[in-house]
Parts: sequence; C-alpha cells; structure tokens
Amino acid sequence: MRRSVIAGVGAYLPERVMTNAEMATIVDTTDDWIVERTGIRCRHIAAEGEKTSDLAVHAATRALAAAGIEAAEVDLIVLATATPDWTFPATATTVQARLGVRKGAAFDVQAVCSGFIYALATADNFIKAGQSQCALVIGAETFSRILDWTDRGTCVLFGDGAGAIVLKAEQGQGGIADRGVHSTHLHADGRHHDLLWVDGGPSSTQTTGKLRMLGNQVFRHAVVNLAEVVTEALAANDLQPDAIDWIIPHQANRRILDGTARKLGIAPEKVVVTVDHHGNTSAASVPLALAEAIADGRVKRGDLLLLEAMGGGFTWGSALVRF
Ligand code: COA
Repeated sequence: MRRSVIAGVGAYLPERVMTNAEMATIVDTTDDWIVERTGIRCRHIAAEGEKTSDLAVHAATRALAAAGIEAAEVDLIVLATATPDWTFPATATTVQARLGVRKGAAFDVQAVCSGFIYALATADNFIKAGQSQCALVIGAETFSRILDWTDRGTCVLFGDGAGAIVLKAEQGQGGIADRGVHSTHLHADGRHHDLLWVDGGPSSTQTTGKLRMLGNQVFRHAVVNLAEVVTEALAANDLQPDAIDWIIPHQANRRILDGTARKLGIAPEKVVVTVDHHGNTSAASVPLALAEAIADGRVKRGDLLLLEAMGGGFTWGSALVRF
C-alpha cells in the first residue's frame, strides 16, 4: 500500500505582530469585541515588500530541514494561496526557483481557506499514483494586502503566515496503524460565491480587489459543513471520535472551533487552537497550527490527526493523517 507520509513540517510568521489595541486605532472596534466574537488577540502582518513567496520559502526551508531532505529530492510543489505574488506565474514556481528545485511540477491551488487541504489531497493523489516521490505542500498567504482597512467586520479577522509539509512516498501495511495520509475528502458549493469573495480580479475588474464577507452567514455554513466533513472522514475510516488524537482545524473563529467540537462530541482539549495569536491566515492556518503543536510537543509521531477547513467558494474538506 503506497502512502504519503509527512516527513517534516515547517512554519513562518512575519515579524510584526499587530494587537487588537492597535487595530482599535485604525477602525471603530475594541479588544473586548474582537476577543468575545472571534477569540483573536493578535495577528502577524507581512512587512512592506514581503511577499507570499518569501513567507513560503521560509516555511518550506524549515519543513525540508525538519524532514532531513535536500531540495533536490523534491519533485512536486503544490502551493495553496489566494494571495499570489503576481496574477501569473504561479507563486509555486517562484518558490521552486528560490529553493533550487529543478525537477517535477510546481503549481498553485486556489481554494482560499480550504487551500491547504486541497493541496494536500492533490499531492497525496500524485504520490499514490506514482507520479511523485517527494512533494512540498505549502499554504502561504498575505491577506493583509487584500483587506479593506476601513471595514471593521473583516480587517480584524485575518493575518499573514505560511506553513509547509514534506510528503514522501512510503509503503504501508494497509491498516489504520500505518503512518501517512489515510483519506482526503474535498467539497465545493459555488452557489455561495457572494458570501465570501474578493471584489476584483484580472478578468472582471483588472484590479486586485478587497475581501468582502457576510460574516454571520459564513459562520452558520461553517459549523454545519465542518461537522459534516469530520463525520464523513470518521465514517470513511470506520473510526469513532475518540480514536482521533488531535483535530487540526482551519482557524477562522474560536466560536466556530468550539461549536464544531461541541456538535461532534469532541473534547475541546483535542482541538489545536492558534486563532488567538495568528488570526485567520487562510490557506496557511492548518499547517501553522500543525507546526505549532509539533513544536510544543503536543503532536507526536504516530498520532492520528484530523485536518479540516472551510473557505470561500464555498470549499471545504478534511484529511485524516497518522503523523
Ligand atoms: N468591532 C466592533 N463591532 C463590530 C465589528 C468590530 N470589529 N465588526 C462588526 N461589528 C458590529 C457590526 O457592525 C454589527 O453592529 P450592528 O448590530 O450595530 O449592525 C454587530 O457588530 C454584529 O455584527 P455581526 O456581523 O452580526 O457579528 P457576528 O457576531 O456575526 O460576528 C464575525 C462577526 C465576522 C466575527 C462572525 O460572523 C464570524 O466570525 N463569521 C465567520 C467568519 C469566517 O469564519 N470567515 C472565514 C471563513 S474561512
């Protein structure tokens, strides 16, 4: 049984931390409101001139070092982002050049906050099909660039960052005890385009645009979709919730994380939470949370992890992985 095993994980956050107090000097908001409604206390913001590819290269370099793998071994780069450096070429190709990778494919995946799960599923399928032996899967975003800094309903929610994993092909026995990716499930429902979108693009407006969101409607869909996708992953692997060691969710809002765990009967202590100090970093949030939980010793080799996310589109999905 050919599986994609996570050989290493890396993360990068821009140096600058922006607190809610600083946010309150820009828009009409308060630390109390943001903490109570979202759980967010601060977020990282990319420096002037710091691009999504810069964040991605740092995270990928750290993931390769953690895996003990040379860039020359990588034969696939899948980079999830909704904030690419340029309209084209893909940010993945910039990262490829800067890492010194010279073989295989490099492309971006655009599924907004579900991007990392989409990218992971894509790379996993390349590996399972035998088309890749060693893949870099990256989620990297500079959402600060597409925020409307006059809209208090959105600008307080997001942050910048990048996370990356190295996936390697390995042979497993075929059971749930195998290390590696056991399942991925992806979904989309394009009817909800106008609940969370960016009001610009090369073909529509020839501008980059700003993020727009009907937050309370997104919230309601998020709890339902995420609970369904977790239930789907558990059923597909014939598992009960208590078999999962850690849930590594997309970090949009503390209340979504709590609401989903409650709906599923999952103990809140098993949910990795970083939204308080990262905000919503879109495609970067799942690998950033994974990297943090590995670094602080919570996630250990052999743990069974359920990664899940939901984002604009809507798109949503899950990945069940034994680390
Ligand atoms: N500070 C103070 N007040 C704010 C505010 C802010 N930063 N943002 C909005 N408000 C106000 C609104 O203007 C509104 O005021 P009004 O009642 O006078 O009109 C009030 O707070 C309630 O707004 P509402 O949007 O209904 O709040 P909410 O409880 O739904 O919380 C979100 C707003 C955005 C935090 C919440 O809807 C959310 O997190 N949604 C999901 C977002 C998400 O996950 N997106 C990404 C998915 S990948």
